[in-house]
This record gives sequence, C-alpha cells and structure tokens, in this order.
Amino acid sequence: MVILAIESSCDDSSAAVIVDGKLRSNIVASQAIHQKWGGVVPELASRAHQQHIVPVVSEALAVAQIDKKDLDAVAFTRGPGLLGSLLVGTSFAKSLALGLGIPLIDVHHMQAHVLAHFIDDPQPTFPFLCLTVSGGHTQIVLVRSALDMEIIGETQDDAVGEAFDKTAKLLDLPYPGGPLIDKYAKEGNPLRFEFPMVEMQGLNYSFSGIKTSFLYFLQKEAAKNPSFVAENLADICASMQHTLIKILLQKLKKAAKMHHIKEIAIAGGVSANSGLRQALQNLGTELGWRVYIPQFQYCTDNAGMIAMAAHFKAEKQLFCTQDVSPMPRMAW
Ligand code: KG4
Ligand code: ZN
Repeated sequence: MVILAIESSCDDSSAAVIVDGKLRSNIVASQAIHQKWGGVVPELASRAHQQHIVPVVSEALAVAQIDKKDLDAVAFTRGPGLLGSLLVGTSFAKSLALGLGIPLIDVHHMQAHVLAHFIDDPQPTFPFLCLTVSGGHTQIVLVRSALDMEIIGETQDDAVGEAFDKTAKLLDLPYPGGPLIDKYAKEGNPLRFEFPMVEMQGLNYSFSGIKTSFLYFLQKEAAKNPSFVAENLADICASMQHTLIKILLQKLKKAAKMHHIKEIAIAGGVSANSGLRQALQNLGTELGWRVYIPQFQYCTDNAGMIAMAAHFKAEKQLFCTQDVSPMPRMAW
C-alpha cells in the first residue's frame, strides 16, 4: 500500500510517502513569515500553504522514488487546526485522489502526533500513555490501540506550548519562543525563581494562571531593576521551563499510577524540549517506566506522522468520501 500524506493544519506545509508502513520521505516547509508578527497569522498561513503545497508534494514523491500513478491512497489532516490552512491540504488531497481515482484517508492531527511513535523503533506496546504537548493541546492520552485512544486529562485553558511561547513573548524573544526558552534554559539555574503552580482536579491541567503571574513577576522586578531580564535571562528561562515540566510530569505520574501503565510516551512540538526529554527519562528510571521519546523531526508538525496514522486506517479500510470538509475543532 503506497500512501501520500499531506499536513497543513497550522504553519508547516508537509508531505510524506509511506509504503507498507515504512516511511519513505517526509518533507517539511516551515513558514518564516509569522516571526515578524509574533505568532501565526491565519490568513498568511493559508496563502503560504498554497505556495508550498505543490513543491512539497513533488519533493516527497521524488525522494520516495514514487510516481503519482503508483499511489494507492491520499491522506490529509482533517483537523484540528486553522480552517484556512486545513482547507489547502484537504482540497489538494481531494483533487489528487479524485484525479487518480484512488481513496482518501482523513487523519486526526493529534492522534497522528501519538502514532508518530510507530515510524521508527523502539515502538511502545499497547496500552500506553502519551503526553501530547503542542502549541494548541496538552493532553494525557490512553492509547489502547492505533485506532482506540481516549483523552484522560487535558488543559482547561492554554496549552503548554502557548505558555512557552507567551513567556518568550514577554521576554521579547521572537516566535516561536519555545525552542529559545529551551536554549537559554540550558545555561540557567532552574531553582532561582519560583512560579506558582495551580492545583487542578484529576488529570487536568491549567496554564493560563502561570502566564499572568509571570507578567506580574516581570513588572515587579523591572520596577526595581530595568535591566532585570537582560541580566537574568538564562535563570528566568530555566526556572519557567522547570515549573512547566514539573506541572506536566506530576499529572503524568498520577495517570500512570491510576492506570497501572509503565509504557510512557511523549509527542507534539513541546516534546522537542530538551529539559522535558531529560526529566521524563529520569522519572522513567526512578519509576521503572519504559519511556518513548520521538526523534526531533517527528515532534513538531510533519506529514510523516499523518502517513503513519493513515497506514493504520488503510489496514482497516477506513477511507472517507469526497464530500469531507476540514474540522478546525475535530473531536476524537
Ligand atoms: O506540534 P507543533 O509543531 O504544532 C502544533 O500542533 O501546535 O507544536 C508547536 C509548539 C510551539 O508552541 C513551540 O514553541 C513548541 O511546540 N516547541 C517547543 C520546543 N520546540 C517546539 N517548546 C519548548 N521547547 C522546545 N524545544
Ligand atoms: Zn501539532
């Protein structure tokens, strides 16, 4: 089975080819235009997808050495994501499948982040828990099989990626700030500053309070010393990152205990964070977990993960019709 997959949910245009469950290519074109505006501008994102989609698909086919006549199905991200961005990938996939007379596979973006773990070895065994952390989501997912997943905890307000990005914005760092916080944190003292952690019920998270308290903290310190940020950037980043990771892992630990599961994975853009990766490894060693951390290229948005998810759906003949439309708030 040869599947071409397309990802266009946010600000990365990506295409990948998978052959019988083995990824043959994974091409990503990121959109630098948003840096200037300090965040993703939806209208600019959809225009950039329109420019990127044809070259990205051509390259994915060329790298995989697959002609479009060899394709058995076309997969695409149906949601969640930005409507204008999703529309580009969805329309392209529908047209191509229609032109070639082959089936279509619609993929849930967050489920694909989880299934990125099956692109390479080692692969988790079912059931496992996946902490799925991105710019739009923060979820603990109970994964019973590739096609049977349940969210057992999630953020009630901001996503942790947003908390990283908004913290960075308050520090005047460019978008996306998560990777920069990560970079500066490496040089800093994680215990230098303390930020309040909000206690949430059960396995849920909240990240909006920490953003506000961080703003007040900066205002208070800047009133005493206008160069506070410049003089303490590494310690501020390290302390904030340390707090966010602590919040994430506390609930993951609780979930693992509640469900008696020791197979633990992380996924999504924030799983690229080196502090989180290290802290999870340490916790895993302490608690006897088998920990699964994706390669960097499969952490942030990419069509390889969409291709992997499509492969599992194709095995069960789960195709969709030509009248599907994008779902910005797609349910699980
Ligand atoms: O999964 P993703 O590429 O897109 C969404 O589906 O949202 O995640 C993007 C998020 C952004 O908030 C970005 O700042 C964050 O992932 N991110 C990181 C790192 N790399 C990406 N956050 C912290 N540390 C990183 N190294
Ligand atoms: Zn994502």
